[in-house]
Amino acid sequence: MDHKLWGGRFEEPTAETMRRYNDSFRFDRRLADVDIAGSIAWANALEEASLISAEECERLEQGLELVRREFADGSFAAIEGDEDIHTAVERRLHDLVGEVALKLHTGRSRNDQVATDMRLFAIAAAREVGERLKALQLALLEQAEEHAATLMPGYTHLQRAQPITLGHWCLAYIEMFERDRQRVEDATARARTLPLGSGALAGNSLGVERERLTEALDEFDAVAGNSLDAVSDRDFVAELLFVFALTGVHLSRLAEDLVLYSSAEFGFIELADAYSTGSSLMPQKKNPDSMELLRGKSGRLIGNLVTLLTVLKGLPMTYNKDMQEDKEPFFDSLDTLDLGLQVAAAAVATMHARPERMLAALDDAMLATDLADDLVRLGVPFREAHGKVGRLVRRALELRVTLRQLPLVEYQAVQPEIDEEVYAVFDFARSAARKDSLGGTAPQRVLEQCVRWRDLLD
Ligand code: ARG
Repeated sequence: MDHKLWGGRFEEPTAETMRRYNDSFRFDRRLADVDIAGSIAWANALEEASLISAEECERLEQGLELVRREFADGSFAAIEGDEDIHTAVERRLHDLVGEVALKLHTGRSRNDQVATDMRLFAIAAAREVGERLKALQLALLEQAEEHAATLMPGYTHLQRAQPITLGHWCLAYIEMFERDRQRVEDATARARTLPLGSGALAGNSLGVERERLTEALDEFDAVAGNSLDAVSDRDFVAELLFVFALTGVHLSRLAEDLVLYSSAEFGFIELADAYSTGSSLMPQKKNPDSMELLRGKSGRLIGNLVTLLTVLKGLPMTYNKDMQEDKEPFFDSLDTLDLGLQVAAAAVATMHARPERMLAALDDAMLATDLADDLVRLGVPFREAHGKVGRLVRRALELRVTLRQLPLVEYQAVQPEIDEEVYAVFDFARSAARKDSLGGTAPQRVLEQCVRWRDLLD
């Protein structure tokens, strides 16, 4: 028997190249589990609408469970006509339970079916990504707790700016990944609208109750209100691809920091051997490949988003076969990000900080702002204080000394009432401790945030 779902009106067979071009089974077989869950719910809805008997429903359900098991244990044997996952499942169901299988597709189209499958798949995928993000946040939190008071240079424009703590740097990334986690949840909420029962585009005419389907498929909390939109909407895929891409961008920034920090020039961090690789030519090399790949693969995540938006742009209402092109970019982004997040979490958890190298990278000029703040405490307006300290910095450069080595007379030349006390400012720990505004780098503020994150993430 020909299991093609649409052969009746055709005289000629499909061309071999066309078959290969059209078939999606090689990638959409990943939808097997959700496709079968949707079919079981559909069979029950058909029974409730008295379109099949209770006994037929039972046989369909049992058969579908057998097919599900074959996919799960890898024993499913594809044949040439398995155009897509929907065709393959129905074909195999027919092998197993016979004629009753021909009733399963009553009132249903692959259009509402695949839209339902993709939503179910996306919801589960999003849940997994959310968990991975959380694991990365927890790895960062461990480091933040340990290094709440570990001093390092903070940068703007990649120029030394002000002393901060390593813990504070970790917390910055935790904030970033928290927004990603929220965005994943937010996008998921909009994926929970059920397309099934919309038919090919116009709705179903056989009296299938759609509300009841959301009880069987409990990932859904509402039924799509317009059948045309229901079969043609892939916004949820695009939204998640955007969230994945932005997460990739965040990972690339973390990665770039760690590529820099693990170089000999910085030496702030050592990555574990397990997340580094060597050179085939230079025996001494230890390269931060894990971080470089995180940085590089963000390009792929962005590319997949652009691919889907380009596919969807200008499509006429309603379903168009172009939409089959949502799957490969989505699966690729999911797999890329899923593994990337695991590598990132493990690399962060196993990296080694070098406090002495970070301390050595701090220089007196990074306390110029603290010096200006001290002048402000003496009553000098900040703009003037900024100018005066700027002149001191220039003077130190002229004399080839650091600010700390600049003689008191030089300080008094810009502000006569300055005395020896001024040199107390040259203390990096004191500088950091003074940034005690909420969210600041002061160790006690960092620890406070660590407690907040522990509560939130545990
Ligand atoms: N493989 C198709 C897809 O992913 C399933 C839907 C096919 N629908 C159709 N009318 N040919 O979009």
